[in-house]
Amino acid sequence: MADILTTLAPLIERINETMTALIARDEEVVARIGDYSFSGGGKRLRPLMFCLVSEALGRQVTDEVLETSTAFEFLHMATLLHDDIIDGAEVRRGREATHLVYGVPETVLAGDYLLAKAAGIGADTGHISCVRILSAIVGSMSLGELVQLEARHRADLSEDEYFRIIYRKTAALMEGSAHSAAVLAGVDEALAGAALEYGCKLGLAFQIMDDILDYQSDEETFGKPVGHDLIEGKITLPFIRARGFLRDGDREALRKLADGSFDPADWPEVMRLVTLGRGVASARRTAEELAAEAAGALSVFPPSSARDQLADLAIYMVARDR
Ligand code: IPE
Ligand code: IPE
Ligand code: MG
Ligand code: MG
Repeated sequence: MADILTTLAPLIERINETMTALIARDEEVVARIGDYSFSGGGKRLRPLMFCLVSEALGRQVTDEVLETSTAFEFLHMATLLHDDIIDGAEVRRGREATHLVYGVPETVLAGDYLLAKAAGIGADTGHISCVRILSAIVGSMSLGELVQLEARHRADLSEDEYFRIIYRKTAALMEGSAHSAAVLAGVDEALAGAALEYGCKLGLAFQIMDDILDYQSDEETFGKPVGHDLIEGKITLPFIRARGFLRDGDREALRKLADGSFDPADWPEVMRLVTLGRGVASARRTAEELAAEAAGALSVFPPSSARDQLADLAIYMVARDR
């Protein structure tokens, strides 16, 4: 299978052109900050999902559809600007994080501006359901980040708690993107529900992969540092699964390394224990199952190349290395 992002390059290009034009309309100060973050790269997965679900459900990808799709990328951009401040992250999309270049207050405000921009694009559809979905996403993502902050450095974080966090901070946006595309396409509840399920499960699989890559990838490929989640106090699925698998002594050792605080010098030992506890392999299986279920949800969609591309996107999400 050719890399799905290569197949979708023309659509990604149209999304990028639409976004560039929308950013250029902004006041110079916000356009400068927005453009820095935007031009750093990014896979544009959320607007892609919106466009492909629209097309799969019989709505051609017109300029209007493209414009609506960008609401989900602007929202994503806003949360990345804020997230890197919250996480103290220094690198994003292979370059210096925006807050280090333009300052924290400026980046917070630019993020707020982008949230408003996304809401405005949603309102331009004239569909209250789209506005409602967008506002629910913003609420969910904020809550996800807040709950995650409260759970920092808690080495006993349960799998349920982990899933609630990643649903809110990541899957809710993908779910909303796919769901609103279906709602705006005017399809019945069964199809809209399938789109929602696709986005939700893919979103969960996607964040699990992001968390796996933090254990497995390298900065050059991933575009952000690896091994950073524990420094940020984030207990993620590879850790949780290894903790469940290891025997008493090793389990306690792993728990102690991450509880309360984490010393980066302990990273090799954490890696050893997570590997011994098969944490990455087990988390990867779950991500693959969720991605397969996401693709399975599409079976009620009429057959089309857009539907196949959505299924390929699901496979890509869990096979990716960036
Ligand atoms: C990063 O998302 C933030 C997470 C939800 C893990 P992406 O990996 O989609 O980021 P870009 O847009 O491609 O840089
Ligand atoms: C996802 O969590 C962030 C958002 C939902 C904005 P992470 O904190 O793991 O994302 P990265 O790793 O910084 O991209
Ligand atoms: Mg982060
Ligand atoms: Mg991450």
